[in-house]
Amino acid sequence: MGILENKRRARLFYKYLSRVYDRVNPFVWNEEMRAEALDLLDLEPGSTVLDVGCGTGFGTAGLLEHVDHVHALDQSPHQLEQAYRKFGKTGPVSFHLGDAERLPFATNTFDVVWSSGSIEYWPQPVRTLREFRRVLVPGGQVLVVGPNNPENTVLRKLANAIMLFYDVEEADRMFAAAGFEDVEHVRMGPSYEPKVAITTVGRAPE
Ligand SMILES: C[S@@+](CC[C@H](N)C(=O)[O-])C[C@H]1O[C@@H](n2cnc3c(N)ncnc32)[C@H](O)[C@@H]1O
Repeated sequence: MGILENKRRARLFYKYLSRVYDRVNPFVWNEEMRAEALDLLDLEPGSTVLDVGCGTGFGTAGLLEHVDHVHALDQSPHQLEQAYRKFGKTGPVSFHLGDAERLPFATNTFDVVWSSGSIEYWPQPVRTLREFRRVLVPGGQVLVVGPNNPENTVLRKLANAIMLFYDVEEADRMFAAAGFEDVEHVRMGPSYEPKVAITTVGRAPE
């Protein structure tokens, strides 16, 4: 398990990274990738949507191009501070300080649960994905963007010593273990690194 697959360490990491996150982020997760991911979802203005690990709100902003309101949760108060500056504390986004593994929402609440760039920090990804399934309505959609495992063996070892990197087979295994159906994966990235991310979509059983 990577050193940042630990909630306390990830929180500390983002205490510092939050200051520069919006400047660094576009190198691996940009607006084109976000649009490609959003196209995989059935979103309507009135859809109930949760963004888990919302950070400074990059995914949230994309979701708001399609829906009227987003619930956004993150465990880092420093990341949330940056998000408040963009969206305000009240308005189209309801913010929640909390843990992806124990979501403060009732069962069967959301039409869509989105999470971009957060799974790599979760100590128990399958358990967290099960929690997503719990809060989704039957037939609701999950979408998770995470880092693709590097092909080079040395790089892969190094990357996984830091956090979770995975391939399509591992994503299949995790989403099946969490009880999702109709699971599909799209590898995406900027032109200079076109497979840097895996985006997975699936549905909660009816
Ligand atoms: C790379 S940022 C992604 C931010 C945003 N989703 C985006 O698309 O730019 C990862 C975020 O996941 C959050 N995170 C990591 N582990 C978490 C957990 N267990 N519960 C909630 N948030 C978590 C971090 O605090 C951080 O803000």
